[in-house]
Amino acid sequence: MNYTEKLNKLIEQKFNYVPLVNVQTFGCVQNENDSEKIRGILNSAGFGVSDSFENSDIVIFNTCAIRENAELKIFGNIGKLKALKANNPDMIVAVCGCMVMQPHIVAKIKKSYPFVDIVFGVNSIEELPYIVYNWYIGNKRQVSDPVVKTDVVENIPVYRQSRSKATISIMYGCDNFCSYCIVPYVRGRERSRRPEDILKEFTQLVADGYKDITLLGQNVDSYGKNLEPRVDFADLLNMLCKVKGDYVLHFMSSHPKDINKKVIDVIRDNPQISRQIHLPVQSGSNRILSLMNRRYTVEQYKEIISYARQQIPDVGFSSDIIVGFPGETYEEYLETENLVKENGFTQLFTFIYSKRKGTKAAELEDNTPHSEKTERLNRLIKIQQDIFFKYLESFNNKTVRALVEETKPGGYSARLANTLVVHFKTDRTDLLDNYVNVRITGKKGTVLTGEII
Ligand code: SAH
Ligand code: SF4
Ligand code: F3S
Repeated sequence: MNYTEKLNKLIEQKFNYVPLVNVQTFGCVQNENDSEKIRGILNSAGFGVSDSFENSDIVIFNTCAIRENAELKIFGNIGKLKALKANNPDMIVAVCGCMVMQPHIVAKIKKSYPFVDIVFGVNSIEELPYIVYNWYIGNKRQVSDPVVKTDVVENIPVYRQSRSKATISIMYGCDNFCSYCIVPYVRGRERSRRPEDILKEFTQLVADGYKDITLLGQNVDSYGKNLEPRVDFADLLNMLCKVKGDYVLHFMSSHPKDINKKVIDVIRDNPQISRQIHLPVQSGSNRILSLMNRRYTVEQYKEIISYARQQIPDVGFSSDIIVGFPGETYEEYLETENLVKENGFTQLFTFIYSKRKGTKAAELEDNTPHSEKTERLNRLIKIQQDIFFKYLESFNNKTVRALVEETKPGGYSARLANTLVVHFKTDRTDLLDNYVNVRITGKKGTVLTGEII
């Protein structure tokens, strides 16, 4: 008997109801994808899935380490469970994900968060039935440093909450070691799933009616480097696009040093691939890019964008930017500002540099006051807001196709293939998870408004 079956038997004896698991995700889509696997594994071991921690028998925090404020927020949330755990000592509190791949964080949990029962690593998800089984048979607290694993495990059950939107991890880990970034340390070395496994998952999703499917990896453009025979990302896209169906295929993230003309050409030739590309530039200064170990120049970045715009007239680019990298001068910040103004990103995710223990950039001198960094961030946000509002206005009176994602009072919220959101009113109640055509009539905050046709 495997541990999923063992755990299933055990909880049937232990509980006279279906016990519940609540998984809370912090961090990126990759983490959300892991959470769906965690729910899937425990669901197949007999647990129900709950949206709230209050009535749950297992609460799992799937954590992120990307910036200090992410970690502070997570500790705040874990702290809130203390009283709940005191009232219900049988409730399991578990913490997993990127944050606990760092020994100093595990030490802090050990010392200051005695009510945390279990810590497990990012690539130990499939061991969860074994871990939980052991907790129940009395082998109590399991809080030790998780190991970074390097294998690719297939056939993990996935519990998907949406009936129309899904993500597929095509690769794990990262080898890029951008000097500011913790991901390669907590997620381990880059490894790709075999194309046939991805194709199988993708084909099933399309057959199940999923319409918005996103391929995930820290750097999708380097997909396949460890595979034999060699397959690259463009080949994978081509292979997936042969699957017939009514869907939009997204991917993230691309890396400017690895995205190439072949990938752009595949997007051009396959209308089911989203015309919205997330291509994080991080900075508009070549000196800072080099210190960041990004391995491209602003000129190379602009070149690939210009090629894409030539080939795919309706292509849009979104990006990530870090301001206040150690030693970034005001002039270097202005170069970023100019790039943003010049390039017209459809969406921008802006961050203040956060020092991450163990990374190369953590050793660099950083004399810029935090108030100055905040000012740079706010300026950039303001510039982007104006660009974004003009972009939203460019949709006025256009008719767009959108996938209905959520009910709203008197109507719905739906997402365009370019990831913009539109709200519309209607008396119909049968539209969830379906495509609709909407005529855009205006905007409200950062979303479009429209009427269904
Ligand atoms: N693999 C993706 C990004 C993953 S992290 C890529 O390379 O594009 C998402 C974003 O978080 C990064 O693009 C970067 O802008 C930001 N980020 C990463 N580490 C950071 C740090 N130490 N401080 C501030 N922002 C950071
Ligand atoms: Fe981090 Fe760079 Fe890897 Fe992205 S590519 S996860 S920023 S090291
Ligand atoms: Fe994602 Fe955060 Fe980990 S951004 S990869 S969950 S450090």
